[in-house]
Amino acid sequence: MTADCQRNSLSPVKLLNLDHVAIAVEDLDSAIEDYRSRYGVEPLYRERVEDQGVEEAMIPVGGSFVQLLEPLGPETPVGRFLSKNGEGLHHIAYAVSSIESALDHLKNEGARLIDAEPRVGGRGARIAFVHPRDLNGTLIELVELTG
Ligand code: CO
Repeated sequence: MTADCQRNSLSPVKLLNLDHVAIAVEDLDSAIEDYRSRYGVEPLYRERVEDQGVEEAMIPVGGSFVQLLEPLGPETPVGRFLSKNGEGLHHIAYAVSSIESALDHLKNEGARLIDAEPRVGGRGARIAFVHPRDLNGTLIELVELTG
C-alpha cells in the first residue's frame, strides 16, 4: 500500500468545538478570584488531576471553558512550564468524537504526539496531547467527552 493510499483510507480529524483554553497559574484560588472580580465568571468544576500533576478549575465561557492550571509541584510539566515561562497560555483543547481515530489519523500524518494512546483527564474525559513542535508552537489537547 502506498503512503497516498494509506492516507486516503483514514478520514481527517473533525474538530467539534474549542473545548478549552488552558492557562498556567501560580495560585489557583487567586486566579479564580481574579476571573470572578474582573469578568464575573465562576468555575463549574474544580479537580485535582494527579496524572497531569495539576489542580484545575474549569470556567464556562459560552460553549467553551477557560481552564486554570496550578501545578502540584515544581517537577511537574506545568511546574516546569511556569518556572521557564511564567504564567500564561499553556495549551488549547479541541473536542473530537473519537480520540482513537484522531490519533490514528495524526500518526498516519507523521504528527509528533506526546500521547500515542489516550489517557484520562479532567471530567473523566479521554484525552491526548500533541507536541507544540508539531504545529505552530502550540500544545494541543484532544478531548473526547463522555456522556
Ligand atoms: Co486541558
